[in-house]
Amino acid sequence: MPSITTRRFLQTAGTLLAGLVLVACGKQQPPAPAASAPAPAATAPAPAAKVYVVGTDAAYAPFESQNEKGDIVGFDIDVVKAVAQKAGIEVKFVNTPWEGIFNSLGQGDRDFLVSSITITDERKQTMDFSAPYFDAQQLIAVKQDAKIAKFADLKKLKVGVQNGTTGDEVISKLQGKESPNVKRFESTPLALKELEAGGVDAVVADNGVVVHYVANNPGARFKTVSDASFAAEQYGLAVKKGNTELQEKLSKGLAEIKADGTYNQIYAKYFGAAPAAATPAVAASK
Ligand code: ARG
Repeated sequence: MPSITTRRFLQTAGTLLAGLVLVACGKQQPPAPAASAPAPAATAPAPAAKVYVVGTDAAYAPFESQNEKGDIVGFDIDVVKAVAQKAGIEVKFVNTPWEGIFNSLGQGDRDFLVSSITITDERKQTMDFSAPYFDAQQLIAVKQDAKIAKFADLKKLKVGVQNGTTGDEVISKLQGKESPNVKRFESTPLALKELEAGGVDAVVADNGVVVHYVANNPGARFKTVSDASFAAEQYGLAVKKGNTELQEKLSKGLAEIKADGTYNQIYAKYFGAAPAAATPAVAASK
């Protein structure tokens, strides 16, 4: 072993120490520019906790929408915030158009999605879902004076849906996928606006959103029509295929907020008292 003199050792140690002190002081001065230039490994402080980026198509009140300040708010958002707290993770919501939402997950631009996403067998092939957190069903919106009593009455009519949703699926099944009478919109509110304007005869979408829109837009003079043929749907949080760790974290968090009453509190805030009350159509159809 090559020996070094005590003096040489002290010199070297002193230089190293000075370096460390400089680096340490230097680190504190600039108010850490957001996650740019990672600090050299040897002197890096414990890495900041990962912030999970959550994609949501925030045009779906009361589940996810943007308020006047531009904040993303809604039932789904409160649920995820509560789940994140239980799971001990940090989340950040990013408004993500429905059209590209599943791609953003697949490409890793979003860590998970909350967007009133119905768990379907088809989607399960390309993504994984948490345990279900909400029961839903399709519901038809028409003008109050429309002579439409059941889903089959829409067979030859112009029907608006949000492109690529379960509403799109059911009407595509009734009319055929290529039917020119199926009008596909980027968002559900756009489809409902078109109904108001008379461009379509009906809109098929998730019951919670339709009920909310009808209640908040009395001027549109809509009514709702339910149909026993609509299947029961359940919303889940979507994670990238194979991300079992996050999937389990989210499911566990959901179970915890259901067990301790947090879920019911959030539910009551948006839909009234008890979970069954706001979705009578779903309950009745089971
Ligand atoms: N539940 C329906 C589906 O999964 C519609 C969801 C649309 N969500 C939204 N935020 N636009 O297909």
